[in-house]
Amino acid sequence: LKASMEDVQQTYIMIKPDGVQRGLVGEIISRFEHKGFTLKGLKLFQCPTELAEEHYRDLKSKSFFPKLVKYITSGPVVCMAWEGPGIVAAARKLIGATNPLQAEPGTIRGDLAIQVGRNVVHGSDSQENGQREVALWFKDGELCEWTQEITPWLR
Ligand code: TYD
Repeated sequence: LKASMEDVQQTYIMIKPDGVQRGLVGEIISRFEHKGFTLKGLKLFQCPTELAEEHYRDLKSKSFFPKLVKYITSGPVVCMAWEGPGIVAAARKLIGATNPLQAEPGTIRGDLAIQVGRNVVHGSDSQENGQREVALWFKDGELCEWTQEITPWLR
């Protein structure tokens, strides 16, 4: 247990335009807060096309890529950096499968979405991408160092 508590990682979580437009921002943030992870960065942001293309660069050859970029840039997104032990894999579990119809009930996508092209939230798929994406979406000085004084055992 001690080893896993020390395995502190950062991940990039983003509420996609459909999540913002449907009023699910509070609901989605709550799931990460209630789990006990630490919020390091947060902003509402209109994503430019070039940034969306860079974020999803590994999917450039996919047929759905142009639609994906159009969707991500179609309205403001909520950008978040979260930190915690084992958070990259744990966040993917909280989010659920890419296709919301296959996502387990209890997960964000399983509970809140029905379309793969409108799956409300993004989460980094590896520690490497967690670092890459946090650096891509946040500028220097936009992340905060702080301690959860009330629940230091969470850290
Ligand atoms: P991917 O990285 O495979 O999934 P995840 O977001 O779960 O890490 O794909 C990125 C996004 O691309 C996905 O959230 C929704 C969109 N997408 C489609 O629109 N159609 C598809 O067939 C796939 C696989 C993904």
